[in-house]
Amino acid sequence: MQYPEDFHQDSVANIWLPRQEESAFLYSDGGEAEAYLEHCLKQASDLSCHSLELTSSIRDWPSEYHLSPKRSNLLRPLQLNHCRNVLELGAGCGAITRYLGENLPKVVAVEGSRKRAELAALRCRDLANVEIVCGQFQDLTFSEKFDVVTLIGVLEYSESFIQAVNPYQKAIEIAKQNLAADGILIVAIENKLGLKYFAGCSEDHTRVLFDGIEGYNTGQSLRTFGKKELEILLQSTDLDYFHFLYPFPDYKLPDVLFTLPEKQPGQIEPFLYQWLSYNNSQDYSHQPLELFQELLVAKQIEANGFLPQMSNSFLILASQSPASINQYLNSNCLVWKFSVMNRLHKFMSQVTLTSNSEQKLIVTKEPLYPDVTTSATETEAGLKHYPKIQSKFFAGVTVMELLVKAIRNKTSTVEASLKYPLETWYNFLVQEANRTLGSATEIPGIYVDCGPGNLIVTTSGKVEYVDQEWCFTEKLPIKFVLFRCLIYIHQKIYPWIDLHLDESLSDKSLPSFILFCFQLISLDITPEEFRDFLAREWIFQKQINPLLKTVSFDDYVRGVYSKTESLLVAKAPYRLWFQLYNTRKELQQTQANWEQTQSQLHQAQSQLHQLQQTQSQLQQTQSQLQQTQSQLQQTQANWEQTQSQLQQTQANWEQTQSQLQQTQSQLQQNQATITGMESSKFWKLRQGWFRLKQSLGLKGDD
Ligand SMILES: C[S@@+](CC[C@H](N)C(=O)[O-])C[C@H]1O[C@@H](n2cnc3c(N)ncnc32)[C@H](O)[C@@H]1O
Repeated sequence: MQYPEDFHQDSVANIWLPRQEESAFLYSDGGEAEAYLEHCLKQASDLSCHSLELTSSIRDWPSEYHLSPKRSNLLRPLQLNHCRNVLELGAGCGAITRYLGENLPKVVAVEGSRKRAELAALRCRDLANVEIVCGQFQDLTFSEKFDVVTLIGVLEYSESFIQAVNPYQKAIEIAKQNLAADGILIVAIENKLGLKYFAGCSEDHTRVLFDGIEGYNTGQSLRTFGKKELEILLQSTDLDYFHFLYPFPDYKLPDVLFTLPEKQPGQIEPFLYQWLSYNNSQDYSHQPLELFQELLVAKQIEANGFLPQMSNSFLILASQSPASINQYLNSNCLVWKFSVMNRLHKFMSQVTLTSNSEQKLIVTKEPLYPDVTTSATETEAGLKHYPKIQSKFFAGVTVMELLVKAIRNKTSTVEASLKYPLETWYNFLVQEANRTLGSATEIPGIYVDCGPGNLIVTTSGKVEYVDQEWCFTEKLPIKFVLFRCLIYIHQKIYPWIDLHLDESLSDKSLPSFILFCFQLISLDITPEEFRDFLAREWIFQKQINPLLKTVSFDDYVRGVYSKTESLLVAKAPYRLWFQLYNTRKELQQTQANWEQTQSQLHQAQSQLHQLQQTQSQLQQTQSQLQQTQSQLQQTQANWEQTQSQLQQTQANWEQTQSQLQQTQSQLQQNQATITGMESSKFWKLRQGWFRLKQSLGLKGDD
């Protein structure tokens, strides 16, 4: 079908319909949600992107998605001034169509669902440059080419509506076919590997926890991609040049967008994470688990160079030439941050972080609508707003980060760790009060917003107060500055306070928290001061936030208190998870103790065994000893016996000796006798006689 030739305009709904009846297109937020949106749009007299009327009608996720002024933040970083026409594929209920219509000469918005096309037309009913076409974009051809074609929150549904081998590639090809030669394609889509999905947010479309990061297992005909996959997809359609921007918390309701230019600034420490919120990302279908503090994890991811790969969403500009992309972006800009909620139109602002020619980082705060905010304005209640502020970027950590880390610190008491950042903050206020007014208790009105989020402890240890947007003409009590900032600290870091201050604070209500912090820096706060400070804050907020215009003081106070109570309810899954985590930790500790006890038992048992062995050896040794002793006694007895035998032998020997001597002397005596006898005459005669008898052969007696 050719547009506009094959279409006719429905003058009641103010949409373009195909002349030939089309089959129904099944995409809906649900009948009730769309009926409510229709009611809001019909009632509203201000349909603009920043409409307060529409903002005040937000009551749930679908109405927030369609009516929040944050929706436009996605495209605010783009310089669209030279763009002549845009083709929006999948316009939904017209949130982005409205922004395009307010900023471009011609918008053709295609939406498959008749109901949603009508809602988009209702949203843009006062914009003559917007044409809403009801039809499926894969069935359409256009008689003109477009400078910009968008697929915002649409590419992921390709498989549901487009018949093709690769429906995702097909969707991009269709978008490309409608581009002018130097045109750009704008794609916005969630990153299936986004940090928030690891932190426990369910997948935005399938609503299943970890579905995207596990590669989609629910069998539904839709999916998102990681960065590399998207790059390959774009290249497959010959869109070889692309530039990624990283919207946080996501492309749907972005507060901040980053980009990383090819030429990195001189800054080496992580600094992009500081632009993220201390509130974890929203889970659009369940209460998020909040398994960790996303900002703290983002810092570590950035330090290791893969923050782009883990951005929750992407905004991609793709084209066939780099020059086409460059004309839509300020190449020096690294960060855009927008403040559009709860503010009067004239106070809505954007902060950018740019890198100048010397690679130095500059922070600039400017009004989003300069035509309604030309110079510093002062309200009746003596509040001044400075619309344009510029300063150098101070590298360091905010006192807020120190506070969050202190609350999570489990190695010392929370009191001890909280004391340091609170004192850093308080001492800075006292020092400035003294320097400017010579006072210890009062400070000039420019310090009204001097809270931990706006205080940077630089790398050289100096404290710098940044973002001085608001100023009271009167001086203020330091205690009021502390008090008002503690309200927002309490709201921002409530889940952590709730869990990590558990032993320190029995009652974690806002008043107890404020009192607790005051006591940590040795200050008191009376009930009268408490009420007076709340009243001052109410006056302050009423001048900024038009939604408070009709709210009474008591309702405002109830709102402040109930906000933290509702946060308490909202954070229930996180608390459960945390308790589980703690229980598991205790269990692990118990198990470790048990294992230690068991090993001690084993050790004791083996020692006992050794002892028994030693005892038996001892007994054995003892019996051996006894045996040796008895042997010794025996030996001794033997020795004694031998000794006595020896003595006896000796005595015998001596006796024998004496007998021998006696015998010897007798022998000598006998010898002498014999010798005497032999020499006698008788003996000689006798001898002669014998010899004679012998010679005669006679036998004879002696
Ligand atoms: C998640 S919504 C996003 C709407 C809008 N771009 C926004 O950001 O508010 C996706 C829209 O794209 C529409 N859509 C998806 N595929 C389409 C197709 N092939 N043709 C026409 N509309 C389509 C759906 O009907 C739905 O309204």
